[in-house]
Amino acid sequence: MTAKVIDGKAFAAGLREQIKLQTAAMIAQGITPGLAVVLVGEDPASQVYVRSKEKQTRETGMNSFAHRLSAEAPQAELLALIEQLNTDPAVNGILVQLPLPAHMDEAAVINAIRPEKDVDGFHILNVGRLATGQKAMVPCTPLGCLMLLRDLLGDLSGKSAVVIGRSNIVGKPMAQLLLRDSATVTIAHSRTRNLPELCGQADIVVAAVGRPNFVHGDWIKPGAAVVDVGINRTDDGLVGDVDFATASQVAGAITPVPGGVGPMTIACLLANTLTATARANG
Ligand code: GUN
Repeated sequence: MTAKVIDGKAFAAGLREQIKLQTAAMIAQGITPGLAVVLVGEDPASQVYVRSKEKQTRETGMNSFAHRLSAEAPQAELLALIEQLNTDPAVNGILVQLPLPAHMDEAAVINAIRPEKDVDGFHILNVGRLATGQKAMVPCTPLGCLMLLRDLLGDLSGKSAVVIGRSNIVGKPMAQLLLRDSATVTIAHSRTRNLPELCGQADIVVAAVGRPNFVHGDWIKPGAAVVDVGINRTDDGLVGDVDFATASQVAGAITPVPGGVGPMTIACLLANTLTATARANG
């Protein structure tokens, strides 16, 4: 069996087109959505991500506000900037690119963002709202994975899902989203003992561990949906957390790396910015 390869790039392009139309409709009513992106330091991967976020924001017709701080900037300077963005009516969404330099307290910085402008969905109030079924801003990468899974499978109710990885950015919110859609969810991680066996029972496997080619084809239930969140730079180039060569022989559908989940993340960031703008003006 050869898996259907899920085209996240095309799906994200379609989503951006819808966002463009909705943005134009808002602008016609005198409201231009605005996203502020803050980068602290010069981490090369973060610089690439941030430039891409800013470019795609402008391409949809939204305002993009770029803020750069040096790696040595005191935390108070970042908090002052966040407060300025919190009170700026032209700014509907605020994203502080992670990771932050070691001298900064990541939780304190994230929780300084007004929850309604927290387009990353990382603020403790949004985490709690998602976990308790209230209206929340939802983290972009898991939201993108959910959209691909719903498009592929339709109703996720009763499906068994294994999420590999327990990060606050992907694993935990992914599990919450699948649970909200009534899937039966197992969260696996580095200490999980019977991972191949668990995966072998799953209709859906989401891999977000950050280890190249970690999930092998012989772990996968024939016909399962496999979503690969990994972006690992290796000597062989960019590879995911799933061994694509073997998994694609067993799975029913699989996301490639690159071109799978990656493009969905920024499209969902723009969707969240639009949602935040609509809520601020509704
Ligand atoms: N660093 C890696 N992924 C993300 C993300 O989704 N949001 C932010 N702010 N930083 C990140």
